[in-house]
Amino acid sequence: MGIRRTRLMLASLIVIMGTLLGCPGAATAKRAPTVIIVGAGMSGISAAKTLSDAGIKRILILEATNRIGGRMYKANFSGVSVELGANWVSGVGGPQVNPIWIMANKLRLKSFLSNFQNISSNTYKPVGGVYEESVARKAFEVAEQVVEFGTEVSKDLAARKQPDISILTSQRLKNYFPKTPLEMVIDYYLCDFESAEPPRATSLLNSVPSSTYSNFGEDSYFVADPRGYESVVHYVAQQFLTTNAAGQITDPRLQLKKVVTEISRSPRGVAVKTEDGLVHRADYVIVSVSLGVLQNNLIKFHPSLPQWKILALDQFNMAIYTKIFLKFPYKFWPSGNGTEFFLYAHEKRGYYPFWQVIQFITLSENLFFKM
Ligand SMILES: Cc1cc2nc3c(=O)[nH]c(=O)nc-3n(C[C@H](O)[C@H](O)[C@H](O)COP(=O)(O)OP(=O)(O)OC[C@H]3O[C@@H](n4cnc5c(N)ncnc54)[C@H](O)[C@@H]3O)c2cc1C
Ligand SMILES: *[C@@H]1O[C@H](CO)[C@@H](O)[C@H](O)[C@H]1NC(C)=O
Ligand SMILES: *[C@@H]1O[C@H](CO)[C@@H](O)[C@H](O)[C@H]1NC(C)=O
Ligand SMILES: *[C@@H]1O[C@H](CO)[C@@H](O)[C@H](O)[C@H]1NC(C)=O
Repeated sequence: MGIRRTRLMLASLIVIMGTLLGCPGAATAKRAPTVIIVGAGMSGISAAKTLSDAGIKRILILEATNRIGGRMYKANFSGVSVELGANWVSGVGGPQVNPIWIMANKLRLKSFLSNFQNISSNTYKPVGGVYEESVARKAFEVAEQVVEFGTEVSKDLAARKQPDISILTSQRLKNYFPKTPLEMVIDYYLCDFESAEPPRATSLLNSVPSSTYSNFGEDSYFVADPRGYESVVHYVAQQFLTTNAAGQITDPRLQLKKVVTEISRSPRGVAVKTEDGLVHRADYVIVSVSLGVLQNNLIKFHPSLPQWKILALDQFNMAIYTKIFLKFPYKFWPSGNGTEFFLYAHEKRGYYPFWQVIQFITLSENLFFKM
């Protein structure tokens, strides 16, 4: 195995609307915020901190749920804290330092370097145990050559300013058609596990080479901390929002359980309507909700977003990435170095393909995590 694969931070789209004209005459202008931020995930909280650092203190963060953190979300599974969303700090050890890694270190967030090098020794047949290592390794080498070919095609397209193609197209150019269970699970591992989408839906230009790994490094650290990966969002929030002695955010500029349903824009500013019927006014609004929320028109824009922006939103897929946590009464799998990750090959592509043993981390628990 030459290529380390983990999760990419799926980019979010930030829509900025507003007007340069404030509302100096109105009686409420003094108390009205300059900027409303919709959503209190990592991007919304970071946007709010950036504004605060720039001296724009009159902000209002409206968050639909009863917590900040968004898709960084921990859960207590059988007494162990597990991550339902983001789990890896991907991109460590390279020429630039990943800003998330700096926060993780400041917090002394417990995390473990993920080693995928031995996965060809831990790839299971549909039935009957593991593939012979040499057989799996050969299949991996072929698939990795296809990735390298795709990387060259990608660089060439970029250099000639040619339009993007999918990973699938680059595979066809190389006459590569994964069809055995082994080929399919390797294809899943190299593409879907990384991008949460199959090769047909994944951009070649944006995924090989991946800027996360080329800028920040090849290493990925699996976060396993009882405070959860979401504590990096709290870390950012605590730098500009007021908290009580227990560290809980008490700042009135953060309002939870506020589901935004409509955003209206006029020369006088923006009006942001929430499900409870209230209308919040400001000069600007920053929308940090997921692509899924925007594609499903859960927030109505008046006037509607420009066509080019709608096109940009609809061109992407909202990826679905399923994790299942299982606990077994006893341990029936191998242990020791090089056995944390394994693949299961099946006739049906993407059928329980990737498994991780979490018992490495929790020590006392026999936990399995798969996707
Ligand atoms: C299963 C899974 C695994 C992942 N693994 C990794 C990983 O290993 N490493 C990694 O770096 N990244 C990973 N990611 C991606 C990472 O979690 C996201 O990129 C990141 O958390 C997105 O942050 P955000 O602030 O842009 O969006 P979100 O976290 O989605 O924040 C948006 C916020 O807006 C709120 N909101 C939505 N609609 C409304 C509304 N109408 N009104 C008000 N508020 C609203 C939401 O409740 C949410 O709090 C993973 C994601 C998932 C789902
Ligand atoms: C999980 O919940 C149990 C019981 O509700 C509690 O004893 C334990 O401390 C919790 N663990 C974590 C990591 O939150
Ligand atoms: C596993 O690897 C680590 C570091 O590579 C090493 O320190 C440790 O001794 C190894 N453990 C076993 C059981 O081989
Ligand atoms: C690789 O995995 C095999 C099978 O689980 C295991 O026996 C072996 O010790 C591992 N090798 C390394 C170098 O980690």
